[in-house]
Amino acid sequence: MIAPAENPVSVANTVLSAQEIQQLFDRIAPVYDDFNQQLSWGLHRVWKQMAVDWSGARPGQTCLDVCCGSGDLALRLARRVGPTGVVYGLDFAPAQLAIAQQKAIQQFRLAPLQWIEGDALSLPFDDQQFDAATMAYGLRNLTNLPQGLQELQRVLKPGARAAILDFLQPQSDWLKRFQQWYLETVVVPAAQQCGMTDEYAYISPSVERFPLGPEQVALALQSGFAHAKHYPIAGGLMGMLVLTR
Ligand SMILES: C[S@@+](CC[C@H](N)C(=O)[O-])C[C@H]1O[C@@H](n2cnc3c(N)ncnc32)[C@H](O)[C@@H]1O
Repeated sequence: MIAPAENPVSVANTVLSAQEIQQLFDRIAPVYDDFNQQLSWGLHRVWKQMAVDWSGARPGQTCLDVCCGSGDLALRLARRVGPTGVVYGLDFAPAQLAIAQQKAIQQFRLAPLQWIEGDALSLPFDDQQFDAATMAYGLRNLTNLPQGLQELQRVLKPGARAAILDFLQPQSDWLKRFQQWYLETVVVPAAQQCGMTDEYAYISPSVERFPLGPEQVALALQSGFAHAKHYPIAGGLMGMLVLTR
C-alpha cells in the first residue's frame, strides 16, 4: 500500500514498487478518463494522435500500445491499422484493461484489438513481432526504464518505430513553476474531491525523477535502438521520444 500522506510532499518522497503502481492505477481506473480529459483540457487526445502519427503505423499492420491503461491510445492505433490490422494493448492493471475493453466494444463492431494483462518489463511477445509501437505516460511509471526500452526494442521489427509520449520537466524556470503549481494546486485538489489525493500526488515526483530528453535518447540508444530523437511538445511540458529499431 502507498504510505499514508498528510500532504503531497510525503508522497513526493515515496518511490513506489511495481505492485504499488499497479494497485494505484487499478484504484484510479473509474475516474482516470474524466480526469485526463479535464486536467489536460482535452489536449491529451491531440498528443496521443501525434504519437500514432509519429509511430508510423499504417493500415493492415500489427502494432503495440504498451502501458495502454484505459485504452485511449490503443483505440486510436486501432483506427489507424483498420480491420486488416491488429493492435495489442498491454497493461498490468486489470481494472484499466476492463475499461479499455468496454470502450472497444462501444466504439468498434469488430475491434482489431487484443487486450493483454502483462508486464512492460517482460513483454509476452516474440522478438520482432510489431510494425510500430506507442506508449503514453507509461515509461515514467516503469520501475526499470532501460529494461522497458530493451523490451520494446526486442519486440519491434527492424526499421519499425516507437513513439513514446510523457510529461517532461520543463527547462524554463517559469514553466517549471507553472507545471508544479498546476499539478499541486489544480490536479491534487481535484483528485482530493474524489478521495484520490495520494494517487494523484504521485505524478509530480514521478515527473521530477523522469530523465530529460537527452538522457532518454542516450538510454534508448544504449537499449539497442538505431535512432532516437526527443521532441519537446506543449512548450516543453510534454515530450515525445521517437525511436527506430
Ligand atoms: C498514466 S497511465 C497511462 C495510461 C494510458 N497509456 C493513457 O495515456 O491514458 C500508466 C499506465 O502504465 C501502467 N503500467 C505501469 N507500469 C507497468 C508495467 N511494468 N507493465 C504494464 N503496465 C504498466 C499502469 O497500470 C497504467 O495503466
